Amino acid sequence: MSGLLTVEGGTPLTGEITVRGAKNFVSKAMVASLLGEGPSELANVPVIRDVDVVADLLRLHGVTVDHDRDGGVLHLDPTDVESAHVADIDAYAGSSRIPILFCGPLLHRLGEAFIPDLGGCRIGDRPIDYHLDILRSFGAVVDKRAQGIHISAPRGLVGTKIELPYPSVGATEQTLLTAVRSRGLTELRNAAIEPEIEDLIAVLQKMGAIISVDTDRTIRIEGVERLGGYRHTALADRIEAGSWASAALATHGDVFVRGATQPEMMTFLNTFRKVGGAFDVRDDGIRFWHPGGDLHSIVLETDVHPGFMTDWQQPLVVALTQAKGLSIVHETVYENRFGFTDALRGMGATIQIYRECLGGLPCRFGQRNFYHSAVVSGPTPLRAADIEVPDLRGGFSHLIAALAAQGTSRVRGISIINRGYENFMGKLEALDAKVTMVDSAVAPAV
Ligand code: EPU
Repeated sequence: MSGLLTVEGGTPLTGEITVRGAKNFVSKAMVASLLGEGPSELANVPVIRDVDVVADLLRLHGVTVDHDRDGGVLHLDPTDVESAHVADIDAYAGSSRIPILFCGPLLHRLGEAFIPDLGGCRIGDRPIDYHLDILRSFGAVVDKRAQGIHISAPRGLVGTKIELPYPSVGATEQTLLTAVRSRGLTELRNAAIEPEIEDLIAVLQKMGAIISVDTDRTIRIEGVERLGGYRHTALADRIEAGSWASAALATHGDVFVRGATQPEMMTFLNTFRKVGGAFDVRDDGIRFWHPGGDLHSIVLETDVHPGFMTDWQQPLVVALTQAKGLSIVHETVYENRFGFTDALRGMGATIQIYRECLGGLPCRFGQRNFYHSAVVSGPTPLRAADIEVPDLRGGFSHLIAALAAQGTSRVRGISIINRGYENFMGKLEALDAKVTMVDSAVAPAV
């Protein structure tokens, strides 16, 4: 992993930064454009590596992609969609899990799709069994081959009834992207209802789809014969906003996150307040700051929306090392999302991880040897260290820890942060962080 950053910690982050569209929506809206017969336009698009990866994958499939990086606007024209070479998909896709979502749209457009080995963050097994079961349920034929998985739909795709074992974000998106142009009705039970999914549904509706969402996690889709393009502005990245908020708290700082929106962050804001953080919601963003005094320990469980997002967990845990007392964190979305705490312990944090479910929610990982609960005892001063970034959110947490610590830390593999945090170096500098990029080499696409 490449990129080395030195961080002279111990100074509060203060100032203003802007967040643009959500990584976990933008990439899906880009895939949705494949379903349209006309061009689409997506605004508020951040310049991050995951967007570049999906843009390259779309280009491989014959889509014309024009990205105005400063203006944050993507033009996507899928008129000449075509099959891509297996080796090319493999070369571009290794760092992303998005290719699995190309299946439905490609089956509709071309009658076949290919999925290489999938990348993404190392935060658990991250299987694709739900996705394959869903595609089969629509009538697709799934053929596992040496280079990857070949999927075809010799008799077309037909609407179906699906009940997810768990409200998976990706599986819900898979169903939506496949059902909108399948023949007849599709009913999806136990669906994920994250704001990014609602925004994807809004995009699909603009394209001509008929989709309803019930309060009991049931989504119904009436297939239509054709879809057009869309014009849409992406919702803000609530994970990035929460990450900077946690950074402000852990460093005793004061950060205005322009573009952050309240409705999608309600659960985060409640937790932030319980920990002792202060915030002020404005029309154009949210200001987050440490109001002085002690931070409070809390009991926290991650969950699917409207619960506390798993992606907020890692940055907030760094702030919890500065809270007075014992905090308990139960991770119920991924079985292996506490690996990043090793480095925090090395910096002086007192964090124990447990296999037991330390929380009230029943969780899939209990009694299964997964270290998915943590007890954080604080406050503990953090000291500088040499750190290797493990994954996107864990990496940002390490960055926060280095910013909060006394002394100069060396953070390696920092380029992974570019996957999901736009211009994080520029933002750190805007917040008066004392950071220096020693080696900015970009990690090669794997
Ligand atoms: N799962 C299965 N089988 C499947 C699919 C999922 O068992 O076929 C399990 C996963 O292993 C996990 C749980 O279901 O334990 C939830 O996974 P989900 O499908 O909801 O996650 P995802 O769609 O792969 C997206 C985001 C993640 C975010 C999760 C949860 C994208 C590209 N990724 O992943 O974001 O953590 O939803 O909200 O949208 C990140 O941004 O750093 C990130 C990891």
